Amino acid sequence: MDVSPAPDAVEAVRSLLRAAVAVPGGLVVLTGAGMSAESGIPTFRDAMTGLWSRFDPSDLASEEGFRADPVRVWDWYAQRRDGVRAAEPNAGHQALGGLHRRHPGAMLLVTQNVDNLHQRGGVPGTIRLHGDILADQWLQPCARRPACGPHSAAPGRPPRCADCGNLVRPGVVWFGEMLPAAAIEAAEQAARRCRVMLVVGTSGAVWPAAGLAGRARREGATVVIVNPEPSEIDDEAHHVLRGTAAVMLPRLLEGI
Ligand code: APR
Repeated sequence: MDVSPAPDAVEAVRSLLRAAVAVPGGLVVLTGAGMSAESGIPTFRDAMTGLWSRFDPSDLASEEGFRADPVRVWDWYAQRRDGVRAAEPNAGHQALGGLHRRHPGAMLLVTQNVDNLHQRGGVPGTIRLHGDILADQWLQPCARRPACGPHSAAPGRPPRCADCGNLVRPGVVWFGEMLPAAAIEAAEQAARRCRVMLVVGTSGAVWPAAGLAGRARREGATVVIVNPEPSEIDDEAHHVLRGTAAVMLPRLLEGI
């Protein structure tokens, strides 16, 4: 049974997008792990394939888990980093990159993803709400030499400061941690001002990112969701298109 959205449903959203990119900041795109699924990067909550169906997030994506077993956590992120480096932006990433080139300043791309596929797909200014898996940072600020960066750490799993023993950790936001203030503020401001918010490949399970769609809707924007499955924020949407990112985004954005 062909479940792809009917042409008129797609056309209705295309005309909304066409009008939105005619004004600066008219379009906000919010993405989640589903955006990179077709690039071979596993999502978090998809049954069987999602990372959290195979690993316990509190063991691997929390400061407590890292302190309890730094080698295990470091190795897990090293494996994921290899996956990100080996992955390629898919047709969905490319379609957003194309839109950005055709309408600079019209779209703000906000992602929960810690990979760099949006940037490699042509949207260098993507706002990262949950950090960057390829970046390193100190587990705690260096008390003695605040200027010394994690690149000066002695090699190891994980690398550590040869002077004070401070560990290096991946530059991602772990459970229980605050999002980067500048990133969430920029995303919330953009959500308040946009005409359309296009939400792609997120379960809407994690806040504050999941709250951006409702905020945009309350401020009068039209919310469109692209996801092959129901999400926890479908009620915030005016249009729900059941399809994948790499198939639906080219259909929605080509020629706009
Ligand atoms: N195209 C579009 N959507 C897809 C695709 C696809 N090819 N494949 C799966 N999806 C959808 C799923 O149906 C699901 O709703 O993507 C969503 C992925 O949801 P999650 O795995 O929960 O990922 P995400 O919403 O990004 O998680 C939010 O949780 O674990 C933390 O920090 C992590 O940023 C992450 C946050």
